[in-house]
Amino acid sequence: MLSGNEGARTYFDHVPRQWDAIYSHENRLMYALNRLLRKGIFERHELTFGKCGDIPGASVLDLGCGTGRYSVEFARRGASTVLGVDFAPSMVEFSRRIARDMGVADRCEFICGDVLTVPTDQPFDIVAALGLFDYLAEPEQLIKRISCLTSRVFVASFPSYGFLGRLQRRIRYGWIKKCSVHHYSRARLQELFSPSFPSFEIVPITSGFFVAAKKR
Ligand SMILES: C[S@@+](CC[C@H](N)C(=O)[O-])C[C@H]1O[C@@H](n2cnc3c(N)ncnc32)[C@H](O)[C@@H]1O
Repeated sequence: MLSGNEGARTYFDHVPRQWDAIYSHENRLMYALNRLLRKGIFERHELTFGKCGDIPGASVLDLGCGTGRYSVEFARRGASTVLGVDFAPSMVEFSRRIARDMGVADRCEFICGDVLTVPTDQPFDIVAALGLFDYLAEPEQLIKRISCLTSRVFVASFPSYGFLGRLQRRIRYGWIKKCSVHHYSRARLQELFSPSFPSFEIVPITSGFFVAAKKR
């Protein structure tokens, strides 16, 4: 089963290096610019590690892992196992390389596939999905599945733009990059999370929301 966003798969498969430049300090000017212009990405990174509780010894599932920066950071902070999933093959290759370079490859596994068909039923202490829901047309299905795969906490980000921001994203991603993008309101998030998680916190961030949802 595919989530249907073939455009997103094709787009991300071509840009692992550009995407990773957000996190890499190799080009200091680009890094500084990204910190300024893509503030939400840095806010969600900080919130993830602030809100997911104890990481040492935890099992982690990283959905839409991209270049593996979150997976590797979970492993560096002591996670016992990390499974990263992404449907863009070059992103998965990049993640494997970063994990090797950072010396955590023995605790990280990366698989190439759609997040809707993660081949496991075993629950994880922490499930993360940062920058993923932008590309999912039917998030209900995935949130239900994630609630069964989470034993402690699920952390995720969701874009919310005003009219002009949405229009600009639809032109940039939808028309130019052929990759459909989706947006969320606080009310929509409440509707999505209430049936599956007994407690959740919705934190506004630049251009969106960060959600930390707990199972206990
Ligand atoms: C914006 S990037 C975020 C990467 C990473 N989580 C981060 O925050 O650095 C979104 C990633 O989600 C992946 N993705 C989008 N939809 C997916 C799907 N249905 N199944 C698997 N991966 C998906 C894309 O290939 C891309 O690598």
